[in-house]
Amino acid sequence: MSAQPIDNLLVENRVFPPVPAGTLGFDRWHIGSIDEYRALHARSVGDPETFWREEAGRLDWFTPFDKVLEWNAPDAKWFVGGRINACYNCVDRHVQAGHGEETAIIWEGEPVGAGGPEIKRLTYRDLQVQTSKCAAALKALGVKKGDVVTIYMPMVPELAVAILACARIGAAHSVIFGGFAPHAITERVVDASSRVIITADGGWRRGDVVPLLKNVEEAVGTLANQGHIVNHVLVVQRTAHDAGRHGWASGTARIGPTKFHWWHDAVYHAGDACPCEPMDSEDMLFLLYTSGSTGKPKGILHTTAGYLAFVQMTARLTFNLQPGAGQVFWCSADIGWVTGHSYVLYGLLMNRVPTLMYEGAPNFPAAPGKPAGVGDRFWDIIARHKVTQFYTAPTAIRTFMKWGDDLPAKHDLSSLRILGTVGEPINPEAWMWYHEHIGRKRCPIVDTYWQTETGGHVGTPLPGAIATKPGSCTLPMLGIDAAIVNEQGQELGPNQGGLFVIRKPWPGMLRGVYGNRERFVSNYWGRVKDPRTGVPYYFSADGARRDADGYFWIQGRIDDVIKVSGHLLGTMEVESALVSHPAVAEAAVVGMPHDIKGNAICAFVTLRASWAAKNPGRKPDDDLRKDLIAHVAKEVGALAKPDQIRFSEGLPKTRSGKIMRRLLRDVACGVEKITQDTTTLEDYSVVAKLRADEE
Ligand code: WT7
Repeated sequence: MSAQPIDNLLVENRVFPPVPAGTLGFDRWHIGSIDEYRALHARSVGDPETFWREEAGRLDWFTPFDKVLEWNAPDAKWFVGGRINACYNCVDRHVQAGHGEETAIIWEGEPVGAGGPEIKRLTYRDLQVQTSKCAAALKALGVKKGDVVTIYMPMVPELAVAILACARIGAAHSVIFGGFAPHAITERVVDASSRVIITADGGWRRGDVVPLLKNVEEAVGTLANQGHIVNHVLVVQRTAHDAGRHGWASGTARIGPTKFHWWHDAVYHAGDACPCEPMDSEDMLFLLYTSGSTGKPKGILHTTAGYLAFVQMTARLTFNLQPGAGQVFWCSADIGWVTGHSYVLYGLLMNRVPTLMYEGAPNFPAAPGKPAGVGDRFWDIIARHKVTQFYTAPTAIRTFMKWGDDLPAKHDLSSLRILGTVGEPINPEAWMWYHEHIGRKRCPIVDTYWQTETGGHVGTPLPGAIATKPGSCTLPMLGIDAAIVNEQGQELGPNQGGLFVIRKPWPGMLRGVYGNRERFVSNYWGRVKDPRTGVPYYFSADGARRDADGYFWIQGRIDDVIKVSGHLLGTMEVESALVSHPAVAEAAVVGMPHDIKGNAICAFVTLRASWAAKNPGRKPDDDLRKDLIAHVAKEVGALAKPDQIRFSEGLPKTRSGKIMRRLLRDVACGVEKITQDTTTLEDYSVVAKLRADEE
């Protein structure tokens, strides 16, 4: 970790007070005033045992827990001794309570035919039947409680079914975002020792087919060569684009030792009586891989009861969810990210509010009269499905701004009541656009700050209680003891930049980095501790400040990860991909500000002499740049494509050989003068060279 958080010079004075629930069409706010919030927050951190016992009481337990918390920092055990099942809490209990015919999931596919897009509605009873069948099929493939099932799928209803089916039988799911390349699959499958993969033949994205099955075939081949055998692959037929595979007979198609099965054979022919497995509170519910600063992705481990308790509460309070009140919630995130886990699926299903899943892109098809790539699909979806709460990312909002105000203006967005944003700090300008053009100045905006590691929201406005300021995630969630501290753990005064920490455990916190105790301890608990007791604090790796009203302003990551379009990427992942190209000797990757993506990737690359020798006449030019960009897309995925590649003769390093990223960041950002001490720089000429390159 290198950079220090900088004091944010942005001063934002606009304040938007909460509005009465009635004016928005809610019969009430769960928390309806700032005094109520403050009293509850004080109680939640002052007497966490009572507070969380009550929250856990909203879940259905097979066996009640004996103890709320055992805390041996950094290890927490929540709801000790309890037995519970996640699928039961999302599905079966609603059927038991007589809500089986209510809509659980509204799904819309991307392609638009003559009769409009394909739409499916799944009730809680449908989910009960389908998760039971899928669970039975997984058991038949040898999946047992405690195993990790890898899921690499498009946003189709079977994805929700697959996740819940794993939970049903106590297998952990590890969902890999469908935009990742085969290499990402192999890496994660090996790390999780996973033997079964669920995928689809393809997924629809912007009118094209994403070749998921082809990627899985490549991955299982590579894995077999490495000695890791994937036993079974279960394949949903979504695009049917590949006539060759179309004719496969289930279970007989193989690549090496790996057997392939069609979902429509294996699942539909499975029995539908598969009960929910009672799981220990602390049994693993899922792994979700996230980028780290040292290259290899980290398998963030979440356990069952604590995650459920935290996510049902944060979903309910942040979005004022009320079952049976006509709400339709839409979070546009892919389920391959934690936002989709918590706020497309678990948080919504537990609260019995219908959740909308959309398969594709916001710009497909193009809006009438607009060029390809400019669309209004999201506003059309909101209007047709009468979405009441809408949750998306700043990078998407900036894209919509670029596409023009006339697109949302054409649609009836009057069903909307609450707008949410997540993924990175939102620029006040984008916040105001969202407020005016989507919320039509009526809807509160909840800017939710959290991480894969936190399970759910840790800083967010509660729409009925907390006044908002554009660009601030405002105040801590109930039960979250957040603070801005210095390296010594001392709390800092107003507007001083420092480290964002959480001083007490909370139920949704990660329980580990899968298979890597050292990384868990050093990444999250090794940097800051309580100056009096020496007990470690959770450090989020974000720099932030609090203003005079106690509002948090997140400044972004201080380690070597970059947020590109809201997706966290490790600089090492991209550098490793570049270095695996025969032309590249060394690479350093930094973020640079980008209007739409938030940050774009700038790669500094030095070339191998051998490449020049083997390719006489070729120069480091735009053709090579294109090659390198395509190579990164292939190795890591399209979202990791560098926007800029700069060839250089050497990279600036410290005496101990560390690349001076801060300096490169300055170069990439076009900062005029060298803003830091460069006395440890190995070769000044390198910097001079890079700067000259700029002219
Ligand atoms: C990082 C976590 C949280 C789910 C999706 C991303 C940044 C996230 C905000 C926000 C400022 C934010 C932080 C955080 N971040 N939300 N509302 N305001 N920054 O999860 O991929 O684990 O990324 O996203 O830097 O550490 P993730």
